[in-house]
Amino acid sequence: MGIFRKKEEIQVDFDHIPEHIAIIMDGNGRWAKKRGMPRTYGHSVGAETFRTIANYCKEIGVKYLTVYAFSTENWKRPKEEVDTIMGLLDKYLHEAIDDAVKNGTRIAIFGDLSVLTPELQALCKKAKEVTSCYEGCQTNICLNYGGRDEILHAVRGCMEEGKAPEELTEADIAAHLYSAGTPDPDLVIRPSGEIRISNFLLWQSAYSEFYFTDVLWPDFSEQELLKAIAAYQHRSRRFGGV
Ligand code: IPE
Ligand code: IPE
Ligand code: MG
Repeated sequence: MGIFRKKEEIQVDFDHIPEHIAIIMDGNGRWAKKRGMPRTYGHSVGAETFRTIANYCKEIGVKYLTVYAFSTENWKRPKEEVDTIMGLLDKYLHEAIDDAVKNGTRIAIFGDLSVLTPELQALCKKAKEVTSCYEGCQTNICLNYGGRDEILHAVRGCMEEGKAPEELTEADIAAHLYSAGTPDPDLVIRPSGEIRISNFLLWQSAYSEFYFTDVLWPDFSEQELLKAIAAYQHRSRRFGGV
């Protein structure tokens, strides 16, 4: 059993890393405001944090990483902020595709992409097409994603297939979610001090372990991730059993 000891006494069993970690990347705006900077600056720094954490997850053997990048509700924000976030997504997706091809890893995008610009839609499609053949860590980017929207979309998909109500099963719905084929997250992390789910992975997180921290996303580091994993490793998961 590999034990990792640091000054801060974070003890992680690297032989039992959660298979699937999901993160609500929150706190960019407040991080920038604390520094007297525009919220958009926080998003740029937060995007770098995403890159660091995604690489570290790969390194320590996480098989699936799902990140909440833009919700179905985030369109309520000022146009300038939305445009900045979309620009960053474009930039990071280009880089992520190149990295994924180099490292043999996969990228999937969860969300309703129909309202994105044609360029961004094409990029999302390319990310999936170019990387789906690989077997390494899968990064799922939730973009214009809402848990309720996802469930609605899945139920509609089942109805379109002509499923009779009495035939419909949980497995049918799961097979029509954006996340179809991906195991449910073991650990859901939310930085920024908010203790809520904000429409993230509502179906999939039924039995996930939750970890909340006051650290704002741009300050989230490999050490913070290890703290979350260490906390997870002390949980007793019963799934309704004993
Ligand atoms: C998360 O940071 C990024 C997105 C929601 C796109 P926020 O922008 O929500 O930052 P805070 O929560 O206002 O600090
Ligand atoms: C959740 O954060 C969405 C993302 C991180 C992409 P929000 O900042 O939008 O959530 P609320 O408004 O605090 O619930
Ligand atoms: Mg927020």
